[in-house]
Amino acid sequence: MRKQDMNMPDQTAENVNVAIPGDMKSEGVSRILISEQQIRDEIAAIAKELDEEYAGDQPLVICVLRVAVAFMADLVKEMSIPLEMDFMAISSYGASTRSSGVVRILKDLNEEIAGRRLIVVEDIVDSGLTLQYLLGMLERRQPKDIKVVALVKKDKPDAIDVQVDRVGFTVPDEFVVGYGLDYAGRYRNLPYIGVLHPSVYGGEAEEGDAGA
Ligand code: IMP
Repeated sequence: MRKQDMNMPDQTAENVNVAIPGDMKSEGVSRILISEQQIRDEIAAIAKELDEEYAGDQPLVICVLRVAVAFMADLVKEMSIPLEMDFMAISSYGASTRSSGVVRILKDLNEEIAGRRLIVVEDIVDSGLTLQYLLGMLERRQPKDIKVVALVKKDKPDAIDVQVDRVGFTVPDEFVVGYGLDYAGRYRNLPYIGVLHPSVYGGEAEEGDAGA
C-alpha cells in the first residue's frame, strides 16, 4: 500500500464496512472513492477556471439544497471574483437509491435571474432528470447564460443528455455518499466521497465485496 493510500479503508474482513475504522460517521461505507485532498484540489482548479471565465462579472451562484451545500461553500471560498449566492431546494430520493424523475420545488430562489449570469452548482448528476428539470425552469426565467458545474457525474450509459459544463469527477454507477451526498439523511458530513455498502440499503454486494 502506497503512502497516499493512508486515506483508503482497511479492506480486511472485519473493517470492510467502515471506511475509516473507529470513525462512526463512516460506518456502512465500504471504500473511499474520492479523498478529501482530491476534492480540495479539484475545487481549487474549478474555482480558478470560473474566476477567469467570469472576470469582470458578478455571477449568481445557485446551490441546489441540500446536497450541494458542502461543494458550494468550498467552491465560493476558493473564488476571488465578486459573486452572489442563492439557494433552491428540490425533492430528491427520500430513502431510496434511484431517481424517480419526480421533481418538486420545495424552496425557490430569492433572486430575480432574468439577464443574469448563473452558475448552477450540483453535487452529483446521476440520471440527469433533476438537472434537466431545474435547467428548464431556470431557462424560462431568461437568464443571460447558465453554466452547470457538477462535482460528480456518474458514468451511466442510460443517463439523459443534459447540459453539464464542468465535471469534477466521473464515478462508477454506484451509490455514493459523503461531502453532502446522503443516504436517508446520513453521511452528508463525511469529508470524502465513498461507496455505500449495498447491505446498508438492502442491495446486493458487488463482486469481490466481502459482504454484509
Ligand atoms: P438524478 O436526477 O438521477 O440525476 O439525481 C440527482 C439527485 O439524486 C442528486 O442531486 C442527489 O440528491 C441524488 N443522488 C443521485 N445519485 C446519488 C448517489 O449516488 N448518492 C446520493 N445521492 C444521489
